Amino acid sequence: MLLQLLLFLHSLHLGHSLNQEGLLLHRIKLTFDDPDNIFSNWKTRDANPCNWFGISCDSLTHSVTSIDLSSGNIAGPFPSDLCRLRNLNSIYLFNNSINSTLPKNISDCRRLKHLNLAQNLLTGTLPSSLSDLPHLKHLDLSGNNFSGEIPASFGKFRRLESISLVENLFSGEIPAVLGNISGLKQLNLSYNPFSPGRIPPELGNLTELEILWVTDCNLVGSIPDSLGRLKKLVDLDLALNNLNGVIPNSLTELVSVKQIELYNNSLTGELPAIGWSNMTALRFFDASMNELNGTIPDELCELPLESLNLYENQFEGELPESIVKSPNLYELKLFRNRLTGRVTERFGKKLAAVVG
Ligand SMILES: *[C@@H]1O[C@H](CO)[C@@H](O)[C@H](O)[C@H]1NC(C)=O
Ligand SMILES: *[C@@H]1O[C@H](CO)[C@@H](O)[C@H](O)[C@H]1NC(C)=O
Ligand SMILES: *[C@@H]1O[C@H](CO)[C@@H](O)[C@H](O)[C@H]1NC(C)=O
Ligand SMILES: *[C@@H]1O[C@H](CO)[C@@H](O)[C@H](O)[C@H]1NC(C)=O
Ligand SMILES: *[C@@H]1O[C@H](CO)[C@@H](O)[C@H](O)[C@H]1NC(C)=O
Ligand SMILES: *[C@@H]1O[C@H](CO)[C@@H](O)[C@H](O)[C@H]1NC(C)=O
Ligand SMILES: *[C@@H]1O[C@H](CO)[C@@H](O)[C@H](O)[C@H]1NC(C)=O
Ligand SMILES: *[C@@H]1O[C@H](CO)[C@@H](O)[C@H](O)[C@H]1NC(C)=O
Ligand SMILES: *[C@@H]1O[C@H](CO)[C@@H](O)[C@H](O)[C@H]1NC(C)=O
Ligand SMILES: *[C@@H]1O[C@H](CO)[C@@H](O)[C@H](O)[C@H]1NC(C)=O
Repeated sequence: MLLQLLLFLHSLHLGHSLNQEGLLLHRIKLTFDDPDNIFSNWKTRDANPCNWFGISCDSLTHSVTSIDLSSGNIAGPFPSDLCRLRNLNSIYLFNNSINSTLPKNISDCRRLKHLNLAQNLLTGTLPSSLSDLPHLKHLDLSGNNFSGEIPASFGKFRRLESISLVENLFSGEIPAVLGNISGLKQLNLSYNPFSPGRIPPELGNLTELEILWVTDCNLVGSIPDSLGRLKKLVDLDLALNNLNGVIPNSLTELVSVKQIELYNNSLTGELPAIGWSNMTALRFFDASMNELNGTIPDELCELPLESLNLYENQFEGELPESIVKSPNLYELKLFRNRLTGRVTERFGKKLAAVVG
């Protein structure tokens, strides 16, 4: 009798029963509030979850490799059970309402390469175990309420290429060990209430770096010479800090840099007089709202800049004639300086609102 019942149940499900990974995902689905019904095609009568919204599988083994529920308007805690999916290499939960802490056992997601939890409601400190993920390449935790210090263990990341912690509540100083992540290409730490600290000179060891974004990070002290070693750097943003001292000559060794933002600091002294001609990629330079003096270097004005902002400083003398021939310049703001001379007057007529 029992045997017959079992056989009957078995035949009923034959070829239809959902595999283990599907059952696991189905349990995870139940932990979320889902007002927009993004889970509507997650049906238990499927054999596997490979055609479910947001799920990708290996085409041969049908094992889940990726989950992408970005902008799904779902709410609930971070689903650590995802780490039971043995072949999972990507988690994209960008722009939802994930509202827990990030659990220590995130390090069980051994194959993880991409972790994007940006724009959620995550809180608490970052687990130091994150850097135990041996394959992690891209980590984006921007736009949450993570707090505490960036773990010192982050110096151990071996394959990390990009990290973004922008717009959180991180405290402590930017740790020097970040200079050990030798393959790092993007370091985005802007808009965090760090304690007053220096730019670690060790960041100059990150020779693969293309983006260094540390806007509004409570940075003090001077810009380290070592940053000149970042030959692949394209975007340098040090704006809205309390940096002082002179702009080091080594900055003109940034041969790939396209954009340099230094506005609203306490930088003093003169701009490097020479070396600018090495920076053939430079298009945007902004050192407004500092205490810079001396003259505006001719070599800087000879670059094919698109935007040059030096307003609210103490520059004096004449604006170099070369700026007149600049082919791509669409923005030039020099007001509140002590500039004199013919070129300034001419531009003064043409761009009365912005040049002073
Ligand atoms: C975030 O998700 C909502 C839907 O929940 C969408 O309307 C909004 O455009 C998304 N924002 C971004 C920046 O993608
Ligand atoms: C997280 O969101 C879920 C679903 O909206 C809610 O039930 C839970 O109370 C929230 N938890 C916290 C800590 O806010
Ligand atoms: C991870 O840890 C949390 C507690 O922080 C626990 O609830 C959960 O079951 C654990 N997940 C796994 C996959 O071990
Ligand atoms: C995040 O932090 C901000 C600023 O401290 C606070 O206003 C907000 O309520 C916090 N949100 C959550 C989900 O913790
Ligand atoms: C950083 O690298 C240096 C030199 O390789 C090493 O001595 C140091 O222990 C490393 N620090 C961390 C936290 O990995
Ligand atoms: C870092 O910031 C840059 C500049 O805004 C942006 O293009 C890039 O996507 C960011 N990287 C990450 C990992 O968030
Ligand atoms: C990293 O940079 C610092 C300071 O610029 C230097 O003292 C140190 O030796 C460098 N470490 C490595 C591993 O290159
Ligand atoms: C400059 O930055 C400081 C914070 O570092 C801020 O209080 C101030 O309003 C900023 N000034 C301008 C003109 O943006
Ligand atoms: C940079 O420019 C200076 C002076 O213009 C020159 O002496 C130096 O060799 C250049 N360096 C590089 C790396 O191109
Ligand atoms: C520029 O300012 C520094 C102090 O910050 C001063 O020592 C130097 O003499 C000034 N140079 C000029 C040309 O005014």
